[in-house]
Amino acid sequence: MKLSNALWILGCTKITLAMTTNQLIKEMGLGWNLGNTLECYGDWINGNTTKDYETAWGNPVTTEAMIKTIKSYGFKSVRVPVAWSNLMSSDYTISSELLKRVDEVLNYILNNDMYAIMNIHYDGGWFDNFATSEAESFTKYEKIWKQLTQYFKKYDEHLIFESLNEEGCWDSIWNRYSNSGNKTKAYNILNTINRNFVDIVRNSGGNNANRHLLLAGYCTDIDLTVDSAYIVPKDDRVMVSVHYYTPTTFTLLEKDESWGKVQYSWGNTNDVNSLKNDFNKLKTRFVDKGINVIIGEYGVTAGNKDKESNHKYITSVVEYAKQLGICPIVWDHGQYFDRSTLTFKDTEIGQIYKDLSSNYSSNNTSSNTNNNNNNNNSNTSSSEYCSGCTITGTGGDNSIWGWENNKACRIDTTKCSEEIKNSNSGNCVKAYAQCGGENYSGVTKCCSGKCTFINQWYSMCQ
Ligand SMILES: *[C@@H]1O[C@H](CO)[C@@H](O)[C@H](O)[C@H]1NC(C)=O
Ligand SMILES: *[C@@H]1O[C@H](CO)[C@@H](O)[C@H](O)[C@H]1NC(C)=O
Ligand SMILES: *[C@@H]1O[C@H](CO)[C@@H](O)[C@H](O)[C@H]1NC(C)=O
Ligand SMILES: *[C@@H]1O[C@H](CO)[C@@H](O)[C@H](O)[C@H]1NC(C)=O
Ligand SMILES: *[C@@H]1O[C@H](CO)[C@@H](O)[C@H](O)[C@H]1NC(C)=O
Ligand SMILES: *[C@@H]1O[C@H](CO)[C@@H](O)[C@H](O)[C@H]1NC(C)=O
Ligand SMILES: *[C@@H]1O[C@H](CO)[C@@H](O)[C@H](O)[C@H]1NC(C)=O
Ligand SMILES: *[C@@H]1O[C@H](CO)[C@@H](O)[C@H](O)[C@H]1NC(C)=O
Repeated sequence: MKLSNALWILGCTKITLAMTTNQLIKEMGLGWNLGNTLECYGDWINGNTTKDYETAWGNPVTTEAMIKTIKSYGFKSVRVPVAWSNLMSSDYTISSELLKRVDEVLNYILNNDMYAIMNIHYDGGWFDNFATSEAESFTKYEKIWKQLTQYFKKYDEHLIFESLNEEGCWDSIWNRYSNSGNKTKAYNILNTINRNFVDIVRNSGGNNANRHLLLAGYCTDIDLTVDSAYIVPKDDRVMVSVHYYTPTTFTLLEKDESWGKVQYSWGNTNDVNSLKNDFNKLKTRFVDKGINVIIGEYGVTAGNKDKESNHKYITSVVEYAKQLGICPIVWDHGQYFDRSTLTFKDTEIGQIYKDLSSNYSSNNTSSNTNNNNNNNNSNTSSSEYCSGCTITGTGGDNSIWGWENNKACRIDTTKCSEEIKNSNSGNCVKAYAQCGGENYSGVTKCCSGKCTFINQWYSMCQ
């Protein structure tokens, strides 16, 4: 959903800018990855159009119908991995065609009231260069996010930015297997990337000041991310990302390799306990301390595994993650959902997701709000930025609102700072929001006239 469509006044389900990250995690329900699509990368890719890249790894061009179908299976969030280096100029300027195409795909998600996570994915592996040409790599990183934060800043909290995928680890600096080299130095790079990421976003204006952000864990590996060397930047709206393919001999391996022997089935008591033990580490290190966690990828990509085991794996990840308040986003590069026929290849998996997602539906919290909205004006649903700067109302997220042409509109704080300063006198509008028993309250803004309490979401100066 675009900010401009925010139904601020009409009820809780559309009130999106008031959410804490903790609330967001619940709202995000279960997620799905648009894998092997906008993140396709390769010197061999023929052609120079976004479509050439989007389809290079074998998936069809993404359509809104795909996203709507995914939604119908109960998913509420879609992660969109992107390779921004495709079609990029040598000074790191992102192709405007690519920006436009990513924007289109994000809109398939946002227009269907789902949450979207957009990242810099593998992107040809240039994150390795932080080990060899650190300064230049930071320059590229910052240039990319500066462009992205400008281009996408208009979107509300349904759009989440992710600092990077799983490439945040440098074995050439610190070998995680042999524990040789300089561990501090390796972690410092990722910690600095994540810190810079938060700073770039927060300083970029628009809705980015309050946007929820996802930070890559070290290698997005659970053990390496719960390590005390990993530092979460101080910020109210950041979450940590790990990926879960444990045991890889089951999830990834199709034939025996030097490093492992294929495991065809999964799901005995030991397997499940081991998964719980892994997730418990995330709970202790992050969730219990108020830092939310997203499992940005999990799933079985190997095609030759026992069917019941596949089902049990998915179900176990989802159920235990949700039990701990963690949001799981399944990796799907086409192995689960067939984007041509718009069905799950294994229809039982489709049904599993439907059943699972109905258990985690948070429409409960979003509907029982005794929404006695006196302000019955059908035009309140549209809200561009106000043309003027007169503040008439406030929102629980510190946002400020005006009222023009019978419509609510958001005050553009980039051009109205003087008026905002001047409005801090006279009567105060206290806007606070209650939703499903939770109180997001908090902000007080002032205006010179009388204030009228419209409903739990909105107050107005008159
Ligand atoms: C894309 O490729 C075509 C021919 O393959 C060429 O004519 C065109 O100039 C290229 N466009 C860009 C933006 O590189
Ligand atoms: C490891 O890296 C850190 C940070 O770059 C540095 O301060 C420290 O001196 C290094 N340690 C060794 C043993 O090189
Ligand atoms: C949904 O939740 C109920 C109650 O906790 C549980 O009995 C049921 O198995 C769950 N369904 C799925 C598909 O997880
Ligand atoms: C929905 O709300 C009811 C009553 O408030 C509560 O008992 C139930 O557990 C909630 N269900 C979910 C899925 O949140
Ligand atoms: C939430 O809404 C979905 C779809 O309308 C419905 O299937 C589900 O039962 C609802 N859940 C609750 C807890 O009301
Ligand atoms: C609000 O407006 C709608 C559409 O015009 C109308 O159907 C409804 O009765 C109105 N509600 C109140 C409380 O006036
Ligand atoms: C909604 O806005 C349109 C155009 O701005 C106007 O013609 C219409 O009367 C408005 N409706 C209400 C209910 O205010
Ligand atoms: C929510 O916060 C407001 C403002 O602080 C307070 O007046 C109200 O009682 C709170 N409601 C609940 C249910 O805590």
